Amino acid sequence: MNPVVLALPGNEAVAKRLAERLTLELGRAELRRFPDGESYVRIDGAVKGGSVIVICTLDRPDEKFLPLTFLAATARDCGAARVGLVCPYLAYMRQDMRFRDGEGVTSSYFASAISKCFDWLVTIDPHLHRRASLSEIYSIPAIAVHAATRLADWIREYVPAPLVIGPDAESEQWVSAVADSAQAPYVVLEKVRLSDREVQVSLPKANRWRERMPVLVDDIISSARTMIAAARRFREAGLRQPLCVGVHAIFADRAYEELIAAGVAGVVTCNTVPHISNQIDITDLLEAPIRNLLRT
Ligand code: R5P
Repeated sequence: MNPVVLALPGNEAVAKRLAERLTLELGRAELRRFPDGESYVRIDGAVKGGSVIVICTLDRPDEKFLPLTFLAATARDCGAARVGLVCPYLAYMRQDMRFRDGEGVTSSYFASAISKCFDWLVTIDPHLHRRASLSEIYSIPAIAVHAATRLADWIREYVPAPLVIGPDAESEQWVSAVADSAQAPYVVLEKVRLSDREVQVSLPKANRWRERMPVLVDDIISSARTMIAAARRFREAGLRQPLCVGVHAIFADRAYEELIAAGVAGVVTCNTVPHISNQIDITDLLEAPIRNLLRT
């Protein structure tokens, strides 16, 4: 039977696009809450013997996790032979080691829970910090696709004379790939994170780039403290205010409003997490890996 695509609430547009482009059947999952807060799950249509592809981006993961795993379990219970997960943004990649005694290494626990519910996973630019690949923590085939060329295409098309700027030393490889493809020079900032919402950045000598338009690029904008601190440094150095370009628009609490209020030249993100700043469509990057995984 033709694989069926099911969307968790909020993921309908991506699910529809993928189903159309991959000529898959778009199914319907009914998910709602009972008055006591428990989840109700129903798959409307047959999945017996076939593949099911669940689409769910995983920003605000705690509230999505239980309905997501219930939907996967329901698909299996209704006879699905394989259940894959497409999450344009993959959560729980940060806490990848125990910094203080007694802390939980939640990225491992999350990966292990997802690996038990799904047969494969496709995502975009997971925050692999101290890990080389998803296979270090995911025991299922887990494919990560990269948005760097799409960011670069956007910068090349819309920003005259850009200077690409990475937030920290770890971002250098990624930032240099974006800059290369955008045919622009790049620099990386020195960043120290003091707490979840406190970041210090210092700007290397950027005087020779004074004529260029600074474009800060980052994989995630969460509290936006990194970009806000960088914008402050630019102002202090008498440079132009940066344009902020990110892959995943997490924007915790009022982070977006605070970033705008910091006086940046603009904020542009990819559509891995629905947000007003989404301007770069990267849904099609998911197609080839899904096609390949359906063949295995
Ligand atoms: C860190 O390693 C990431 O690349 C981002 O710089 C970080 O996640 C941004 O977080 P925030 O927006 O909270 O400063």
